[in-house]
Order: sequence, then C-alpha cells, then structure tokens
Amino acid sequence: MGLGDVRGRVGEAAAGGRPEPSTFILDRYPHATCVAQDGSEPMLNHARHLAAKYGQRIKLHQSDLFEVDWLPQQFGLFDAVVSSSCLHNLRDFKRIREIYGDIHAHLKPGGAFVNADLINAPTAALHQRYDRVATARRHREGAVAEDLAAMVRQRRRPPATAARGPFPATLDQHLTALKAAGFKDVDCFWKELRRAVFGGYAYRSGRSRR
Ligand SMILES: C[S@@+](CC[C@H](N)C(=O)[O-])C[C@H]1O[C@@H](n2cnc3c(N)ncnc32)[C@H](O)[C@@H]1O
Repeated sequence: MGLGDVRGRVGEAAAGGRPEPSTFILDRYPHATCVAQDGSEPMLNHARHLAAKYGQRIKLHQSDLFEVDWLPQQFGLFDAVVSSSCLHNLRDFKRIREIYGDIHAHLKPGGAFVNADLINAPTAALHQRYDRVATARRHREGAVAEDLAAMVRQRRRPPATAARGPFPATLDQHLTALKAAGFKDVDCFWKELRRAVFGGYAYRSGRSRR
C-alpha cells in the first residue's frame, strides 16, 4: 500500500524493540516526522537507541494499548498510522476494534492506516494447510526434526476438529472491523499464509477518493 508522499506526521502503534516501520518511513519520506508508541520501557529504550539518528523527527511515547488514553489528544491528528506485528498480542478482538476506532479518530481527512499483523485462517482446513507449509519451510531452513513430527501430527488431525488459529481474528473480521470503525477503501494489500498487511483511509466526507 502506498502511503503517498508523506510530508506530515506518522504514528506507529507498538513500535518498541525494532521500530522498522517508523525508521523505514523516516528514511523513505524525508519530510515526515513520527510518534512511535509502545507499552514496554525496555523496548522503547532499545527503540530510542535505534532512532537516535533521526533526532527531533521521531518522538517516543509510552502507553498501554488497553488504556483508554493510549493515544493522547496532545499529539493531534496524523497523516498516517502504522502498526506492525503488534495488535494480535492483545488477544482481545473487542479491544482491537476499539483501537481501530481510536486510530480513525486521530487521522486527518484522507489519512491512511496500515496494519501488518498475524491473522487466523478463514477455515480449519486452511489453518492446517498453512501450518504444514510453515512447518515445511522451517524444516527446509534447517529447523529441528521435531517440527517434522509436528507436521505429521497436524496432517492426521481431522479438519472438522481443528481451530482456525491462535490469533484474535481472521482477515475478513479485521476488514469488517475497520469498516465499522469508519475507514473507507478498506482492503488487504498483501498476504502470505497467516501474515497480512491491511488497512484503509479516513475520509471525513463519507466518499472514497478516486
Ligand atoms: C513483536 S513487537 C513489534 C515491534 C515493532 N512494531 C516491529 O514491527 O518490529 C510487539 C510490540 O508490541 C508491544 N505491546 C504488546 N502489548 C502491548 C500493549 N498492551 N500496549 C502497548 N504495547 C504493547 C510490545 O511491547 C512490543 O514492543
């Protein structure tokens, strides 16, 4: 998904540890500034070290995504908000839906939200297939033989009894939640097995930009 020519402010939710989305955007868009939010002080300290070269262009903010004011008004509106490998950690799809609403409320008109995260497969059968592919890949990449045994066990499990996955929601559920939060032009922009990049735009007029 293109973020356009970001000249304004970008927020990254849960940027701790490896704030790659923020640093990628700051490198790619020299006029952008960024607020990188995370709940963990050690992770933010690590991010601070990596972000030092951007000086005033990046601000770190510590808050818990379960707190109502995790994204304080003082930051104003953003041109784009990104989140990477984070929201599934909350294990609470109701809270994720609320966070989508908070993000929508903090975007400028036309602002974009992009979420890269782990998703459940749409069916139990696909969950099993995705597991087998992921296990086979790990094995090819030199993982231990234990993985192969797990793969065989998976193959024997009847699809009807298997769950759709360990994450809070499927891609369809995320896309539906984004639309319910007010986002327009909601779509999945990239997907591989149970990883996906999806999001939408905040158009205040209620009409899509063409
Ligand atoms: C796997 S890391 C992803 C870091 C970075 N976004 C990336 O893509 O490399 C997940 C991050 O989510 C943060 N996190 C998990 N639960 C959180 C919560 N309730 N509030 C704020 N941050 C949270 C963790 O501190 C951690 O930094």
